[in-house]
Amino acid sequence: MHHFRYAGQNLHCESVDLAEVARLYGTPTYVYSAATIEDNYTRLSGSMKGLDVRVCYSLKANSNLAVVRHLANLGSAFDFVSGGEMRRVLAAGAGVRDSVFAGVGKTDVEIRLALEAGIFSFHVESEPELGRINHVAGKLGVRAPIAIRVNPDVDANTHAKITTGKSGNKFGIPLKQAAAAYEAAAKYPHVEIKGIQTHIGSQITEVSPFVEALDKLAPLAADLKVRHGISYISIGGGIGVVYREALASGPFTWWETQPEGKRPLTAEAYGAALAPALRQLGLKVLLEPGRSMMANAGVLLSRVEYLKRGQGKNFLIVDAAMNDLVRPAMYDAFHEIVPLRRDTTRRALVADIVGPICESADCFAKDRQIQELGEGEYLAFMSAGAYGHVMASRYNTRPIPAEVLVKGSAFEQVTARETFEQMVANEKIPAFLK
Ligand SMILES: Cc1ncc(COP(=O)(O)O)c(C=O)c1O
Repeated sequence: MHHFRYAGQNLHCESVDLAEVARLYGTPTYVYSAATIEDNYTRLSGSMKGLDVRVCYSLKANSNLAVVRHLANLGSAFDFVSGGEMRRVLAAGAGVRDSVFAGVGKTDVEIRLALEAGIFSFHVESEPELGRINHVAGKLGVRAPIAIRVNPDVDANTHAKITTGKSGNKFGIPLKQAAAAYEAAAKYPHVEIKGIQTHIGSQITEVSPFVEALDKLAPLAADLKVRHGISYISIGGGIGVVYREALASGPFTWWETQPEGKRPLTAEAYGAALAPALRQLGLKVLLEPGRSMMANAGVLLSRVEYLKRGQGKNFLIVDAAMNDLVRPAMYDAFHEIVPLRRDTTRRALVADIVGPICESADCFAKDRQIQELGEGEYLAFMSAGAYGHVMASRYNTRPIPAEVLVKGSAFEQVTARETFEQMVANEKIPAFLK
């Protein structure tokens, strides 16, 4: 359940009028709801009753320090994929002793950093990586805790760019080779086998691919428990969220009306479907949610620059662009787009909602119906809290957008908008051009 509502005519995040945030900090600006994050965390962490569950929030979805701190305060550990993400956890004042390090290309430096920080486990993606972790740990005179990421060859029925558990994907070690990889790991003197991991993709809206992956992994996990004494299984992240009619999905009205099988996956349904097989294994369970913690907890605020009426086509040109929110351009993603001030007396407008970047890909929505809006009025892109700000770039020399965190009636800017001076600070004109 999210905490974005119209109170009267104005869209609010919790008790804060979003137009006030837009006026104060400018646009484009991301705004996150602390209560929504808490609700998402609490529901998922409590979804597998009787099991020893640890949520390792996947920083790649949104790594803002304030978000990380909020989740740490709630009791979350973390899943990071780079030394930079790990340093964010530390910079947020959270520990990494319960956290895990994934990713196919860990460097020597990153492995050393993680060992020195004392992480819970490395999620190993290949046999060469295993050798490298052993080597770096040996130089430090320690044993590196590891789990192998196993690729179960399951179709997650999601966008091709975010499917990770098929045999053709670069992730993990194929199920058939996994037992041999564990035998190899057992021979390394500086490696300690602790668990098994899998992650089959993102924005998965039905539970069956998760069940299939767990069914495929369970016999191996049971065997590893006997042979190598593993203590945990991580079943990754991937739970999908509502992007269409996201505003209405707050109190679940929209998705409750959907027929069985078409309902987006809830934390409760996910937990109920997976808990029986996990219970049989008797292992600690790690969950690595990213999107399902953050997507519906954030919106991107933007301002209308122009309404351009073309031949048979209208364009609503806004000040946010694909550099701020790349999901529509990169994944053909849908975001509900709503005015910050709702006015039911106005006519509807059908328009392409586009940004100012010089690319036709800079289009958020085609032929979208929206209340007629004019220059200077604000709108919000719903469900933009995950894979939004973290994927922002400076394309067209546009600054990385600001971020604001709301809690009840309190709000604070947690990332300032980048300045031009910051954008060019690391560039210089070489002496031979002067
Ligand atoms: C290993 C791993 N765990 C967790 C996640 C988080 O996935 P999601 O944001 O879909 O929950 C990812 C995302 O790609 C991942 O690669």
